[in-house]
Amino acid sequence: MTTLRPEPLTARSMGTHHDRVDGPEKVTGRAPYAAEHADPASPPVAAWMVTSTIARGRVLRVDASTALEHPGVLRVLDHDSAPRLADTGDQELAVLQDDRVRFRGQVVALVLAATSEAAREGARLVRVHYAEEPHEAAYDGDTATYAPEGVNAGHETDWADGDVASVRTPGAVVVEGDYSTPHEFNSPMEPHAAVASWDGTTLTMWDSTQAVHPVARTLAPMLGLDPARVRVVAPYVGGGFGSKGLPHAPEMAAALAAVAVGTDEPGRPVRLVTTRQQMFALAGYRTATRSAVRLVAEPDGTLLSVEHDATSQTSRFKEFAEQTATAARMMYAAPARRTTHRVAALDVNVPSWMRAPGEMPGMFALEVAMDELAVATGVDPVTLRERNEPATDPETGKPWNERRLLDCLVRGAELFGWADRPAGPRATRDGDWWVGTGVAAATYPTLYMPGNEARVEALDGGRYAVSIGAVDIGTGARTVLKQISADALGVDPAAVDVHVGDTDLPFATVAGGSAGTASWGTAIAAAVQQHRADHGAHPEVGAHTTAGAEPYPDTEGHSLHSFGATFTEVRVHAWTGELRVPRMLGVYSVGRVINPTTSRSQLLGGMVMGISGALHEEGHRDPRFGHVVTQDLATYHVAAHADVGDLQVEWLDEVDELATPMGGRGIGEIGIVGTAASVVNAAWHATGVRVRDLPLTADAFL
Ligand code: MOS
Repeated sequence: MTTLRPEPLTARSMGTHHDRVDGPEKVTGRAPYAAEHADPASPPVAAWMVTSTIARGRVLRVDASTALEHPGVLRVLDHDSAPRLADTGDQELAVLQDDRVRFRGQVVALVLAATSEAAREGARLVRVHYAEEPHEAAYDGDTATYAPEGVNAGHETDWADGDVASVRTPGAVVVEGDYSTPHEFNSPMEPHAAVASWDGTTLTMWDSTQAVHPVARTLAPMLGLDPARVRVVAPYVGGGFGSKGLPHAPEMAAALAAVAVGTDEPGRPVRLVTTRQQMFALAGYRTATRSAVRLVAEPDGTLLSVEHDATSQTSRFKEFAEQTATAARMMYAAPARRTTHRVAALDVNVPSWMRAPGEMPGMFALEVAMDELAVATGVDPVTLRERNEPATDPETGKPWNERRLLDCLVRGAELFGWADRPAGPRATRDGDWWVGTGVAAATYPTLYMPGNEARVEALDGGRYAVSIGAVDIGTGARTVLKQISADALGVDPAAVDVHVGDTDLPFATVAGGSAGTASWGTAIAAAVQQHRADHGAHPEVGAHTTAGAEPYPDTEGHSLHSFGATFTEVRVHAWTGELRVPRMLGVYSVGRVINPTTSRSQLLGGMVMGISGALHEEGHRDPRFGHVVTQDLATYHVAAHADVGDLQVEWLDEVDELATPMGGRGIGEIGIVGTAASVVNAAWHATGVRVRDLPLTADAFL
């Protein structure tokens, strides 16, 4: 198969509004999600996960006798009876392969039954006997002393430039603080779910995932199968936020159950749905973090040094280290900067991706610290950031693609009415409410996932089919890929059928890292250009080409990042401490926006999730028993409509051909970055109370 680096595209549809192509299916309830996949000829067996009630130890015996007496219960799989995996190296995914209990909430048995109700009742009736061992499940930044080999997304663990100790200090202003973020749990509307079947040759899985090909390529070798014998289909996905970016235990549980059932009844599907409670144990989460940030600056706010030491937790059996301090390496200019990451390995499930892993907690800490520096130096927060703008990337020394943070700040200040802001705190009171405003900056790297391929086929009537195994997790990927395909082909979007969400389609990488549209779109541009080269502008019906994209972004020559500025107004009740966010504005520099409608929604969604993290989200693990106590949406609070006031989004008019042939960069994550810091900074302005720990709760203001 050919691979090429495509030429930049000419925008016709790109940049214009286009209705979501799957909108009608979704709003009329006709879009089938993973668990709804049905084969009328073969009703699915229901699978229910039994999870451990101890945090560490061994399973002595799974007593299924009572469960098996329950009407409808067919079978109970445990670590002795479940199908064997060929590779158990990944202990998060090696479900039911040994008797070890590594964290509370681990899958220790699977009940298979005729109905979901019978499976659930059967799961309740399974008696698991354990040999319990002492465990450690309390995260505390002080005990997080282990240096991981690297941190998420391939960053170095520690990094330094210049010598912070040699920075001259007479007259310098020092801001030093400990900032913390709690455990946060991805809570997509649709919990993880799969319908899987095994016909003796091929495992087929209708899965709620952000990445069909990567799931197949991960599960296949563990199951001892060629990846071509694992088909993963994900036509519609009800959100993921990173939790469905990598396969987790429920997917392997569904696969094992399908193999067990299909060995006796080839092709009989198994349906497994993760309950909301189980999501808190089995779907990954954002680890709690603690950040020690130290800024030293000239009296006018010019930074002399930046230090960011971050800690987080990981599991004992598989490592994930949140890249909390990486943004501090490139965000501002200073002669000396250093960052470190340390983790505590505990008897807990492994953390994973949650919208802007690293940037979200790290920029919260850095941007609150910058606000404290603004206060300490008496410099306006916008001016302070202007004063510390780096001409080139402070981390790599490379020139920027086009760093437009200042443009975002200036435009945001103008739209938000920043000029009228009183400098000091507790300056505005409206009845019983203190009113304040705050700002924070945002950044997100321009990531690109290599290896994507696309197929282009000429249909009759001048139409085209474009196929790629990408996943639309609710972001509008189908719609923007249609627009990109149309512009690559030079036709109207109505003349293009886009097919996604199936490993039978050409290889595609994860809908994650704000890199889906960028990486898939580049492959589509490459495939179309190859199709044109092979078949011309008037191809015969049926003429088709599959081609892959060579890495596109100019990462050798440039440092590619997106930027943004979030302005927030808060009101804090003088007597109750209740905090409201009546107004928020985000201005972003993200390259060309492919579809203003779906993009606005993505950026707004990031900001809403940031408000959610600022005001509510806080997961608690009981260290005595090792479980997440807040394991439902009644106790793990997320932002509701009433929390969201007047949200405005704007973006700069720009085209970034160093990043993608479409001229756009990713937008999935930058909306959340900096949002919580802007709320915290506005709360300080309203009340004079500086909060350094998320979420902001009423007691902080009393
Ligand atoms: Mo996102 S956390 O890269 O799915």
